[in-house]
Amino acid sequence: MASPCRRSMNPKTLTFFLVGMSFLALHLWFLQASSSQQESTRDGPTEAVPAAPVAVQPLMFSPCVANDSVNTTDGFQQLPQRIQDFLRYRHCRHFPLLWDAPTKCAGRRGAYLLLAVKSLPANYERRELIRRTWGQERLYGGRQVRRLFLLGTSPPQDAENAEKLQALVGLEAREHGDVLQWAFVDTFLNLTLKHVHLLDWLAVRCPRARFLLSGDDDVFVHTANVLSYLETQPSDRHLFAGQLMDGSVPIRDSWSKYFVPPQLFPGTAYPVYCSGGGFLLSSHTIRALRAAALHTPLFPIDDAYMGMCLKRAGLAPSGHEGIRPYGVQLPGAQRPSFDPCLYRQLLIVHRFAPYEMLLMWKALHDPGLNCSQGHRGSS
Ligand SMILES: *[C@@H]1O[C@H](CO)[C@@H](O)[C@H](O)[C@H]1NC(C)=O
Ligand SMILES: *[C@@H]1O[C@H](CO)[C@@H](O)[C@H](O)[C@H]1NC(C)=O
Ligand SMILES: *[C@@H]1O[C@H](CO)[C@@H](O)[C@H](O)[C@H]1NC(C)=O
Ligand SMILES: *[C@@H]1O[C@H](CO)[C@@H](O)[C@H](O)[C@H]1NC(C)=O
Repeated sequence: MASPCRRSMNPKTLTFFLVGMSFLALHLWFLQASSSQQESTRDGPTEAVPAAPVAVQPLMFSPCVANDSVNTTDGFQQLPQRIQDFLRYRHCRHFPLLWDAPTKCAGRRGAYLLLAVKSLPANYERRELIRRTWGQERLYGGRQVRRLFLLGTSPPQDAENAEKLQALVGLEAREHGDVLQWAFVDTFLNLTLKHVHLLDWLAVRCPRARFLLSGDDDVFVHTANVLSYLETQPSDRHLFAGQLMDGSVPIRDSWSKYFVPPQLFPGTAYPVYCSGGGFLLSSHTIRALRAAALHTPLFPIDDAYMGMCLKRAGLAPSGHEGIRPYGVQLPGAQRPSFDPCLYRQLLIVHRFAPYEMLLMWKALHDPGLNCSQGHRGSS
């Protein structure tokens, strides 16, 4: 091949050279533009990573460009900054993976149940405790449970520590192989992106996983109970079970975290959905949701968005008694109960501090647990 340093180049060589240089320039520009939040791309490819987790270099992706014409939306200037931001990037649905777990469902048994936990880079402790308790990757009566944490990049409130947090995510990905991280900012309004990216990822990496548990990193899961329940459910039929939210109305107070202006949702009530704290779905429903999501514009309330996709797919979610995103409260009690006897028959309970997860897990697995004083599994 001709060397680009030769004095005179023929036109063909020159074209190759110029094309090569533009690729290099594009590459450098992209790395620079994203280096503040995507540290793993900087050292990922040069490091020898084990077979399971992979630092992906999003080389061939051009960043999604904001849609500036959304400013023609009625009352755009009066909308809170974060909603304006959501509207500008609403069409962006494909962000590159920064950390992948390509062999997550490999092996003879594949994955019977995949636990997909939405987490933030800064929530290290929660992930660690989940790994030690309900999220252990192990067999339950021959059924393989596997775990994944779904992350974006550090949000503005963690900007000061973004570089350290990205290093931590890389460390966890290499050590545990349970991290999927995409190159979008991990904000509340971007949570829906985790669902649509996961649906796409599952189709490629885990098409045979039977069931999925989608949940927050502050839920407590009674994994064995979840599996006993799933055993009664065929994975090739529709299943979408959780705490039903029926007739939820959009919040119109702009100070609320859940604020949705009429420009985004003019209706008076969302389609029926399940609270995003934790819900269970079958592989059948995963495929139906993925197809429906392609035709459903992104919506900033992630669990309501799942309801919209279900509706489009002609499916309905169902309620499950054992899924309690609002905790377990005895009648008349001031605070949620922490009595392990009340948790023996539950599946998913919301709002646990990491240390509480450990305590509850240990208590439930204590052979000396005595629930004979008139305790019932459900309140
Ligand atoms: C950009 O926003 C305008 C106004 O809302 C809309 O009509 C157009 O389809 C959007 N473009 C993309 C690529 O989403
Ligand atoms: C919308 O944004 C574009 C590009 O930034 C600008 O040229 C235009 O004047 C803006 N329109 C309105 C109505 O603010
Ligand atoms: C969502 O992520 C994109 C890509 O990082 C970012 O540009 C956008 O501001 C985020 N949107 C919100 C509402 O946080
Ligand atoms: C369980 O607790 C009850 C009431 O406190 C007690 O009577 C019973 O002996 C206990 N059973 C065991 C196996 O410890």
